[in-house]
Amino acid sequence: NAIYRPGALGIEPVVPTGTAELESRARRAMSRRAWAYVAGGAGDGATMRANREAFDRWRVVPRVLHGTTERDLRTTVLGTDLAAPLLLAPVGAAGLITDDADLKIADGAHASGIPYIFSCQGSSPMEQTAAAMSGTPFWFQLYWSTDEELVDSMIGRAEAAGAQALVVTLDTTMLGWRTQDLDLGSLPFARGIGIAQYTSDPRFMALVRERVAAAESAAGGAGLGIDPRKPLEAARAARSGVGTLLSMARAHPGATRDNLRSPEPRAAVEAFLDIYSNPGLSWGHVSTLRERTSLPVLLKGVLHPDDARRALDSGVDGLIVSNHGGRQVDRSVAALDALVRVREAVGPEPTVLMDSGIRSGADLLVALALGADACLLGRPHVYGLALDGAEGVSAVIDNVVAELDLTMGLVGAGSVDAITRDLLEGAAR
Ligand code: FNR
Repeated sequence: NAIYRPGALGIEPVVPTGTAELESRARRAMSRRAWAYVAGGAGDGATMRANREAFDRWRVVPRVLHGTTERDLRTTVLGTDLAAPLLLAPVGAAGLITDDADLKIADGAHASGIPYIFSCQGSSPMEQTAAAMSGTPFWFQLYWSTDEELVDSMIGRAEAAGAQALVVTLDTTMLGWRTQDLDLGSLPFARGIGIAQYTSDPRFMALVRERVAAAESAAGGAGLGIDPRKPLEAARAARSGVGTLLSMARAHPGATRDNLRSPEPRAAVEAFLDIYSNPGLSWGHVSTLRERTSLPVLLKGVLHPDDARRALDSGVDGLIVSNHGGRQVDRSVAALDALVRVREAVGPEPTVLMDSGIRSGADLLVALALGADACLLGRPHVYGLALDGAEGVSAVIDNVVAELDLTMGLVGAGSVDAITRDLLEGAAR
């Protein structure tokens, strides 16, 4: 009713309720590069399309005359109380869209009472984003660095900041084949966007200072304050190993003077690109998690049922079935189809969340009926941010939750547990 009231008064909302309209208005509000980065997927976009097509293979079969006047959307996932079975997915480099992006997302999440999973590539230090959550629960998402001390440092900070769970993303040991970003010559991180979690980390900054010192001594003490427009200096920089970064930074018109001219920001970007993730990540790494943190641990990016079983055997607390919104492996299995297989493989008990393709409350209902304990919302909340800052994020969440609530009332599910498979007709591919 709260959602309908403004409409009844003839007030058009800033954030549209329909998915297609939300996307097209957000596109107009965003720069070409920001749109390419957020909306884009890997390769030809086959995975992104598959994520949506998978939802289209299911139909809800509503029940009638059930008298469901009260709906309870609350649930608990690994000790975190959720007002609805929804969390905001981690999104890196949202600073491309607006200043203080993560703080605004946190404000919006808090206003709607929905947890936010802070990205390792967030645009503000997690301690600041945690403060903006003002008591609403949050989780922290880790990309496993090649530097093990940095891994421990990030986990320690997340614990100290009050994160209620640790999400380790497994599907991005390298950045996927992002054709739109490649074609626009656009990589936010090369411009220092999305590295705030790192530059606020003592271990990371120690590594950066080591690099600066090493490069300075290699350059004969001339320092790294090189003006790339001066060929001699650039040549010397190339010899000292900073050439790659300089040429990369120059290839990006958005590169700031700071990135190009002062040694530390530039070395920070370079260090980030070198160590933010670990292509050698293996089960051996995961097996060390239990002794590194007391937080519940979820592995994000699991798609194969065998990996799901092995993950739970290795002692983690939960899984997030996800193909990263179709941004990593093109022609991946659709996340919703993978959810069905993973739930079959692990049985009803383990905690299994899902994301990739959720756009509405009806989608959420389908994913819950197919065995998800809760879902993550990715791009839509970023579109809300682009349209109306914190209020836009909150509006997107409220719309999804309102549609879920309404749909539960219409089909006869009074609680999250009552959203069961027998409400659906269809099949996983
Ligand atoms: C992401 N995603 C992501 N995942 C993660 O674990 N760490 C991250 O830093 C990011 N960064 C990121 C940036 C942007 C702009 C997008 C769109 C996505 C993936 C995200 O958490 C989630 O898995 C997908 O977005 C879910 O798919 P939908 O809802 O966007 O279809």
